[in-house]
Amino acid sequence: MLISMHSLLIDKNQSKEDIYKATVEQISSLVSNERPVTAMAQTAAALKEIFDFFWVGFYVVEGDELYLGPYAGPIACSRIKYGKGVCGYAWKEAKAVVVEDVDQFPGHIACSSLSKSEIVVPILKDGRVVAILDVDSDSYGHFDEIDRVYLTDLCNNLSRWF
Ligand code: SME
Repeated sequence: MLISMHSLLIDKNQSKEDIYKATVEQISSLVSNERPVTAMAQTAAALKEIFDFFWVGFYVVEGDELYLGPYAGPIACSRIKYGKGVCGYAWKEAKAVVVEDVDQFPGHIACSSLSKSEIVVPILKDGRVVAILDVDSDSYGHFDEIDRVYLTDLCNNLSRWF
């Protein structure tokens, strides 16, 4: 299946890795001249549509908490404290976190009971976490090393907006 969205054209018959490669490249080009909020909004919408994730969105660092940025999916919590939940943990550790079963993650914040697994990738600027990308799936163990590698690439590209 070939999905066409505005200026994005993704062949979903490719391997997951190749879909990610095309996605990262095309999103980077789509948002290259846009403002930060637009870059985050388009990225969230594109990832949701291409990969059919349950929820995709950004939280932005402000003081000792994260506030909810652009996202695609059901309503989520607006603020998360430093170190709390998977998002706060990824912020504190400044590294990507893959959770196979959210119920097994101590302190997981359940924005929706339908979310079963999750990946959170920090966006770093000059060595500091400035925002995080959070992706949720409604199936267990959905995220693997391929998701981690390419979502990290995507977040590295987005760092220049902060
Ligand atoms: N589950 C996250 C909270 C954000 S929602 O999933 C959108 C966490 O534990 O930090």
